[in-house]
This record gives sequence, C-alpha cells and structure tokens, in this order.
Amino acid sequence: MIKSISALGFAILMALINTGCNSPSGSEVKQKDSVTSISGVNEGLAKTPPMGWNSWNVFGKDVNEQVIRETADAMVSTGLRDAGFIYLVIDDIWQGERDSATGQLHEDKRKFPSGIKSLADYVHSKGLKFGIYSDAGTKTCGGLPGSYGFEEIDAKVFADWGVDYLKYDYCYSPDYVSANNDYKMAIARYKAMGDALKKTGRPIVFSICEWGPRSPWLWGKEVGGHLWRTSYDVADIWDRPNNEHSPIGILTSIDAVANLSRFAGPGGWNDPDMLVVGLKNSGYIKGGGCTDTEYSTQMTMWSMFSAPLMMGCDVRNMSENTRKILLNKDIIAIDQDPLGKQAIRMFRHNGLEAWKKPLSGDRFAIAVFNRNENASTISVGGDDLEIEDSTQYNARELYESATAAKRFHKLTTRLSAHETKVFILSKKS
Ligand code: GLA
Repeated sequence: MIKSISALGFAILMALINTGCNSPSGSEVKQKDSVTSISGVNEGLAKTPPMGWNSWNVFGKDVNEQVIRETADAMVSTGLRDAGFIYLVIDDIWQGERDSATGQLHEDKRKFPSGIKSLADYVHSKGLKFGIYSDAGTKTCGGLPGSYGFEEIDAKVFADWGVDYLKYDYCYSPDYVSANNDYKMAIARYKAMGDALKKTGRPIVFSICEWGPRSPWLWGKEVGGHLWRTSYDVADIWDRPNNEHSPIGILTSIDAVANLSRFAGPGGWNDPDMLVVGLKNSGYIKGGGCTDTEYSTQMTMWSMFSAPLMMGCDVRNMSENTRKILLNKDIIAIDQDPLGKQAIRMFRHNGLEAWKKPLSGDRFAIAVFNRNENASTISVGGDDLEIEDSTQYNARELYESATAAKRFHKLTTRLSAHETKVFILSKKS
C-alpha cells in the first residue's frame, strides 16, 4: 500500500487510449450468422457486452414494423451501428396468437403485416443483428403468450426468422405467483430455453430478465445466458428506491450491481437494465426525465460496469447532447474493453465516489461520481485507489481534457451535481 500518491509522479496529460470499440462490418455480421456446430454454438458470443437498441423504453406497447425499420435506418445514418450498437431488439407486445394445433407462435399481423422474418431480413440488410423478446412463464409481462412449455417450438421459430438475440422475461412463471424466489424453478425455466436455443444450431445471445431476486449472476452462464438483469426496470428518473411495484432510478440500479463485479466477464455480463439516455420523459416508460448530466453518468457508469449498452431512446430524433453521450467512442471503448472487468467501488465519502476498472494494456479507468444535489470536490489518493507507488502513470480525463492539465498527489476534481468524470491511467513509458 502506498503512503503518498506524490511518489507516483502522477501527471494529468493527454495520452492516447485504445478506442477499439465494436464496429461491425457487413461481412463480420454474415460470418457470425453462419451456423457452425450444434454443441457450444452459443459459446463465444458476447465476448464483450452486447450493444444495441431495445424498443421498450420509447415505444412500449406501440411497437410496429414501421418504427423498427426507421430505427434500423437511423442506427446506420447516425453512426450508432458503426460505433458498435449492432443489436436491434423488439421487446414485448409483438406477439399475436399461438396456433392451438401446432403450438406455433405468430406475430401480431396488424403491427407486423410483412411478418417478423421479413423485418429481420431488413435489419440484417443494414448490417445489424436482430433481437426479439419472450417470457419463461405462460404469459409475457404485457399479458401475451409466453414460452412456458413451448420452449423448443419457439426457439425454432426464432431461429427460422433469423433472431440473433433473445430477451427472456420472468412474469407469469410458475414461481412468480407464489413469489418464493425459488432458484431451482428459475434455473429450470431458463435452462429449458437455453437448451432449446442451442438445439436450433443458430448462435443466439440469451438475455436473462429475471430482475435479480433469484441471483441470476450465480447460474446465468450455466443455463446458457450471456447477460442477466441485476435489478427491476430502470425508469427515466435519477433517484427512486428499490421496490417490486414501480421502476427504480439510475442510482438504485448502480447500487444493485455495485457488488457483483466478480460475476461479470467475457460471455456473461451483469445487466443493470437498458439506457434511459435521451428519453427526456418522452418515451413509454416515463419517470419524470433526467438531465443530460445524469444521462451522461448513466452511460459512463454502465461502461465502467462492462454492462450491456442497450439504448432506449428514439434514435430517429436524437438531440445533439444525446448523440454526444451515446457516441462517445472513448466511453464505449471502456465498456468494450476486452478484459471485461466490472469496476469496483474503491471510495465513498459524503456522497462522493471513486470507481476503478482495470483495462487491457496495463491501464485502468477511474470514474469519480457525485451523488449530491450540489457541486462538490472529490479528492482521492493512491491508497484509496490501490495504485502501486512504484509506477508512474499518464492520465487523460475523457470529458474535459482541458481541465486536467495539472500535477497532483491526489486525484482532485470538482463535480457538478450528479456528474461523473473518467480518467484513463496508463503506465508511463
Ligand atoms: C418487464 C421487463 C421490461 C420489459 C417489460 C415488457 O417489465 O423487465 O424490461 O421487457 O417487461 O413487458
């Protein structure tokens, strides 16, 4: 442990960082689409946290094929796809009826007159991947047919349609009614779909949406999952405490995922829920809205957590600030760093926090974060951050490089209310 950080000769300097974010090309998408072998077909997926867009936060029950096509177009024209946001996921309320004779699940033809398969083809033609939603219970959370007892039939339909990602919810599952939070039941229900997906032979990212009560981080990977929700739904609100009946705020979601670092890594990620960035209380989920500073904090902290980055705003109509927050390549590179480590909270005092995330190339990211309602100055030393005293580092502050040009024996910086700043430390050569 070091006594004084001045021994490190820390200097805040501009330093190049690796911006190796996930930017797919059409050929890469095709290559990943090709089926290799049935066993282990879903292994090797989600080596970095999945990035994309999900329909729920903004469109909710009003999702339809036109908005999905327009969203696919916008993901390309805005540069989101090339920044790494490649999954386009239709959430709940796409379903029509289940055929009572064959068990086949159909789309709602009024909303998807051309059919899901043709929509998936369109999404793929844009160099994106296509995701869909179902539920481990008899009904989805929106009350439409769930996959309970129909896992194999549904998985096959999804694979035939060209689905690359399945979000799988937990409403109306057998133990949901008794609310006994039975791990065994959840494991069995998610394994049934995980196995069915593998059996299709198509690589499909499996997103477990059980919300956390049955600790899916303990068994998510074992049932074929690549990510698992760690809390209830996040609404477009900064601070609302945990509860089973209404969505939570960004702060509560941060605290729910905070101590789960050891369960995140390549192939299996903690999922603190989708991004509310850019919603401005205009979407389906509401909550009152957040400031751009708060949205920026969500994007930054999700990246510090190696969390999936699933956008939820209307990407056809983004403000300049929303665009800047979502397309910040340096922040995305933190999320997509190949080491896949989730940040650890190293320091907390008077509502000020410092988080540390190891990065590839002997670097790490330090995020400093102000939970308070007023501006405050944070000061963290090497002891707090557990930085070796024998090593010198260059540091780069990602949002405001200009403010960072000073030597220090502590990392000291002023943060406005709810603001987060990130420093990348790399060893001095
Ligand atoms: C649950 C999930 C949400 C969303 C809705 C859809 O609440 O947690 O993310 O998928 O269901 O009904």
